[in-house]
Amino acid sequence: MSTKSETPFKSPFGSYQLDRYPKTTDKSLRAWSAADLYLLDYLDQTGIKDFGALWIVNDTFGALGVALNRFKPWSYSDSFISHEALKRNFSKNTLETSKVKFVKSTKKLDEKKIDTLVMKIPKNLSLLEDQLQRLGPKLEDSTLIVAACMAKHMHKSTIALFEKYVGPTETSLAKKKARLLFCDADPAIYEKSIRTWPKEIPSFEGGPIMVNHANVFSREKFDIGTRFFIDNLGVQTDSESVLDLGCGNGVLGTYYAMQNPKAKVSFFDESYMAIQSARETFQKNARGKHASFLVGSRLSKLGSELGEFDKILCNPPFHNQFEVGTDTAESMFRDARKSLRKGGQLRVVGNNHLAYHLRLRKLFGNVERVAKNKKFSVSVSMKA
Ligand SMILES: C[S@@+](CC[C@H](N)C(=O)[O-])C[C@H]1O[C@@H](n2cnc3c(N)ncnc32)[C@H](O)[C@@H]1O
Repeated sequence: MSTKSETPFKSPFGSYQLDRYPKTTDKSLRAWSAADLYLLDYLDQTGIKDFGALWIVNDTFGALGVALNRFKPWSYSDSFISHEALKRNFSKNTLETSKVKFVKSTKKLDEKKIDTLVMKIPKNLSLLEDQLQRLGPKLEDSTLIVAACMAKHMHKSTIALFEKYVGPTETSLAKKKARLLFCDADPAIYEKSIRTWPKEIPSFEGGPIMVNHANVFSREKFDIGTRFFIDNLGVQTDSESVLDLGCGNGVLGTYYAMQNPKAKVSFFDESYMAIQSARETFQKNARGKHASFLVGSRLSKLGSELGEFDKILCNPPFHNQFEVGTDTAESMFRDARKSLRKGGQLRVVGNNHLAYHLRLRKLFGNVERVAKNKKFSVSVSMKA
């Protein structure tokens, strides 16, 4: 029986095989959405043969990049995993990845103009705001700007951000529950705009000041789950190597380093903005100390780059853009186990209803719930 993931992605720019990355256990999930197809149909119907300098923003699994590969696009994203998905889907369709220019969301952009801007609108409106502010100086009144998302995610506030930072904006009718947004860049608008992010946010009395870039977890205020974890971090005083896995703004690892100056702390996340935030948070609060910062999709693939850890701290993600689930958390636990030394510990916080302790017991053969309140628990497993 064929599954949705084996169905070819049929676009007006060609038919391709696409995979999600990382692979999911839910076979009903595809590597593209109706919004991708609506966008590509629109671009085809413009009749334009050459899109010039074409920038694709927030391409989740590379569907847009693969379909538009002949135009040698730029791929601008905050996600290492999305960039990796695009590379893998290029290889799967025997396309040369050298055709794409990969641009990290944190890169300082020059003012070379974009002829065509194609964007998947992110759920996080702070990220959208930051991206529009950063891209503004690269747009001119002749730039073709088309953005897309599922209709239920196109809010008045989404349109207002385009109006505020780029120019007059209109939207299409919904098609297969997706909608398009068209915008005319007005250089007079972005010339006046000042960057909103990063923001410095206090954590708690005596805790680190967090430097939050636009796409980090809990960017406007300190998260209560993180707070509960901080109260139950089990800080040691001897020298140990500690990893903040899925570090976000790095508040956990930074606080650990502040409490145990002998600890050697590393930070890992798949978001470029998270790693940038962690670096700035650490520098602000643990001045003079050394730490490692790495962006990637699979911790275990980094191998000797980081060495083995005595302790890994993890507040795993439950939301990924528009989807929810524990697949990512489970793969982070498996990776963590591989990256611990014998006798090393993985310490995890989670909502009680997610019952991470059961998953950890299955994986490690042992688990201890060291703290629990009405909402969260902290569990510790040791690598035998
Ligand atoms: C719930 S947040 C926790 C952030 C921070 N540690 C805290 O407690 O405030 C989860 C983090 O995991 C990151 N993440 C998601 N998938 C990941 C992956 N495959 N590998 C590494 N980090 C990932 C997200 O970018 C996010 O920063």
